[in-house]
Amino acid sequence: MRGAPDGTVGTLPLPGIPAELELQMQVVTTIQALRALPREGSVGLVPTMGALHEGHAALFRAARGECGLVVASVFVNAPQFSDPADLAAYPRDREHDERFAAEHGVDVLFAPEPEEMYPAGFATWVEPGGAAVGLEGEQRPGHFRAVATVCVKLFNVVRPERAYFGRKDAQQVAVLKQVVRDLNLPLEIRVVPTVRDADGLALSSRNARLSAAERDRALAIPRALATRDPSRVRAELAAAGIEAEYVAVAELDGRTLAVAARVGETRLIDNILLDS
Ligand code: PAJ
Repeated sequence: MRGAPDGTVGTLPLPGIPAELELQMQVVTTIQALRALPREGSVGLVPTMGALHEGHAALFRAARGECGLVVASVFVNAPQFSDPADLAAYPRDREHDERFAAEHGVDVLFAPEPEEMYPAGFATWVEPGGAAVGLEGEQRPGHFRAVATVCVKLFNVVRPERAYFGRKDAQQVAVLKQVVRDLNLPLEIRVVPTVRDADGLALSSRNARLSAAERDRALAIPRALATRDPSRVRAELAAAGIEAEYVAVAELDGRTLAVAARVGETRLIDNILLDS
């Protein structure tokens, strides 16, 4: 394992690595510094809330494959959490995120403080309709308004040619595609397939909160989705003692079978594309 970055702002020298192999990643915390960076070729943006894992790495890889400059953001966007306990428990590990991003091809990591994104007096929100109505939009009022707002801010600051999002959050993809279309934003939304653990569980920062027994029970979710049948999904989840918030077939950037369920205290979502 490579040495940990020192967590300071600037280029990260990683100890013990020959100079020519050194991973160079800029960490910036202000919008002003981000705007001042030189643009090299096309710019790809990967918005995240940190606690980076292989699902995020797949987005970094996709961006690396088609962009000259890969910018990732790590920002726990408080307004998109409807549940204060969920926000408080959200995993934060800046050192891990910096090392992980540097090792997975990110050129610039934007890690602003909340005041940088929402300074005193902030009062303008992007209110998505259409794809944002129902499912997550119903269970988490205000969620997509906050997601859309922070993403439009990031798009305006970074001005990427492409922004990368995971199929894992299928409704989020549908909402952001709609926002880009409706507001004529000059970028393309790229969608990356869901990355799963070997046992089928979709990778999520929230999986860290599952006990071993809960994780075992959570495997009923991908198993149920594999039936591709909403009533069988409901039956499988019930048999595993998992309470589903919704099981639905919806048009979410393709015909999608989507599930939200609580396993213990942890809320998990997953989906499969039905027309693939
Ligand atoms: P976060 O949950 O950190 O996810 C960041 C991106 O990684 C999202 O596009 C998400 O769909 C993708 N992702 C997460 N797990 C994945 C997996 N197992 N396979 C593939 N992609 C995966 O989604 C958010 O943050 C926020 O809502 C954000 C867009 C950053 C706005 O605050």
